Amino acid sequence: MRVVLVGMPGSGKSTVGRSLAHRLQLPFADSDAAIEQRLGCAIRDYFDREGEAAFRDVEQTVIDELTQGPPGVLATGGGAVLWPLNRQHLHERGTVIYLRSSPETLFRRLRHDTKRPLLQVDDPLARLRALYAERDPLYRQCAHFVLDTHGSSMSMLLGRIMMQL
Ligand code: S3P
Repeated sequence: MRVVLVGMPGSGKSTVGRSLAHRLQLPFADSDAAIEQRLGCAIRDYFDREGEAAFRDVEQTVIDELTQGPPGVLATGGGAVLWPLNRQHLHERGTVIYLRSSPETLFRRLRHDTKRPLLQVDDPLARLRALYAERDPLYRQCAHFVLDTHGSSMSMLLGRIMMQL
């Protein structure tokens, strides 16, 4: 079984993914961590040096590989759904769950974040709103299930995911 988590930065993909993998006794992978391992540097540094398009190329290769490997739980980067081929690979090769959170909730979680290059702007809330407007339809297109994270504890989220698998 392969379970894939998609959603905006700060939606809890890695945290939920790790707990879910533990519960299912499956290995956990995080596409951002795999990308950093491959690049040998932080995503933010790579973005600064090479630009977003170069990062998306690496991301696509890593996602293609990770979705063909052994079963497991995969947390993806927030922009992974931007490329149609990624959406197709993720949808065909796993059960995809969209962890949905509002831009306001994401902002509360990420206001002090310095890791995410796309949020290093004067008005991160406006940026999150714009990214959300662009991506929410793409997450929905890629996902088999949408899970609203608002007001849900980790154990509630895990329970709801387990019911869908
Ligand atoms: C990105 C989200 C990040 C990371 C990169 C780009 C995005 O992952 O892949 O900084 O485009 O939203 P998280 O969703 O884990 O923050």
